[in-house]
Amino acid sequence: MNSETVKVGMVGLGLVANSHFKGYATHQHAQVVAVCDTDRTRAEAFAAKHGIANVYTSYEEMLQKADIDIVDIATPTFLHIPMTKKAAEAGKHIHCEKPFCRSIAEGQEACQAVRRRGVKLVVGETYVFIASHLKARQLIEEGAIGRPLQIRQRHGPWLRRKSKSGGRTSAKRRSAPGWRMDGEKSGGGDYPWIFDHAVHFFATAEFFMLDRKIAEVYAVVGTCQRQSEKEQAQGSTYSLPEVDIPIITWKYEDTDCQGVWLRAERLNGKYDYMHGFSTAIIGARGMIEVLGEGGHNLLWENQQQHLVLHRDGQQTRCFRFDEGGDDIWDSDICYYSQGHINQIHHLIDSILADTEPRYTGVDGVHAVRCTLATILSAREGRPIQLHEIPADYTAY
Ligand SMILES: NC(=O)c1ccc[n+]([C@@H]2O[C@H](COP(=O)([O-])OP(=O)(O)OC[C@H]3O[C@@H](n4cnc5c(N)ncnc54)[C@H](O)[C@@H]3O)[C@@H](O)[C@H]2O)c1
Repeated sequence: MNSETVKVGMVGLGLVANSHFKGYATHQHAQVVAVCDTDRTRAEAFAAKHGIANVYTSYEEMLQKADIDIVDIATPTFLHIPMTKKAAEAGKHIHCEKPFCRSIAEGQEACQAVRRRGVKLVVGETYVFIASHLKARQLIEEGAIGRPLQIRQRHGPWLRRKSKSGGRTSAKRRSAPGWRMDGEKSGGGDYPWIFDHAVHFFATAEFFMLDRKIAEVYAVVGTCQRQSEKEQAQGSTYSLPEVDIPIITWKYEDTDCQGVWLRAERLNGKYDYMHGFSTAIIGARGMIEVLGEGGHNLLWENQQQHLVLHRDGQQTRCFRFDEGGDDIWDSDICYYSQGHINQIHHLIDSILADTEPRYTGVDGVHAVRCTLATILSAREGRPIQLHEIPADYTAY
């Protein structure tokens, strides 16, 4: 691409759009020139705040009229695929939020459209772009823990940053419109929270396993019987308290390797001292503990750390990534902000250098396949092989 500045049109101006905008605004070769949201007031306010001239309430009109090279899609999940296909057909490069699709077939169709038109697509898998996770991957690649063999992901509560009045509110709940709880629009059927988030967990599980692929998934289902705990669950996140998957286990194609994700979030009244997402990667000669989205309280010798490297027979090493904290969570890890900035810079750099981006539509579809296997496993009470999932299977 020869043009000095890559021009961007953003569609969907809700919770995550602010982080996306920062990504474009901080890249010297990018500029947001158009925005679109069906909520005109929201679109106009966003445009006024950021000095953007062109405001649309119709996506098709933006594609047709705006002079743009990239479309940034941050709309509800059911719109990702139709919008990606239209953008590809219009010859635009694409940044599309996760979960990329609701079925394997629709995701593959969009990937074909992207290939046919020769445009670039990055799916918004921010977990493989945050500093702490990138450092963990680098250490693993360098052989710091030997061969990685087991992944243990732990999911404590995501706590919102304190407001000026001192209280906390859940970002997702606060801004949660109908689509997040709608089985079809979210894509998750009875498991909207799992569908929205598990793609992150599976992407991370393979990233830390040096891209070894997951082959089989098993979901442990939990229930919530006590009324008081049910009420607490309802107040904390957009999950149905009656149906919950607090534990997911998986095996990789390499049968020496396995993984587990466990949640003790406040869902269903549980308590966990360690906040947010964190992972222990167990290798043949050492282990890494690392914080992810909203992470806090990883302690080593009473000091808060972001990554701790233990090696057999060697001194423990600790790392911190102080990038200004998070825009939303009470956490030192800069997920909402620098994580998204890294991801968007990567897309722009890939476009300018004409190189294949790191997390594409194919990766996005694979993460959805793992998530659909989780939901099918919960329904059938048995381990599910990834190849068992029919291309047209949906969770709703
Ligand atoms: N990568 C991440 O860390 C991350 C974080 C948050 C959200 N997300 C994903 O981003 C997507 C958006 O999430 P959100 O929390 O910002 O949602 P949101 O509900 O806060 O915002 C969605 C916006 O899309 C607009 N919209 C709906 N239909 C539209 C249409 N047809 N045309 C134009 N605009 C339309 C809505 O008016 C709203 O402003 C979801 O798929 C979510 O899973 C990803």
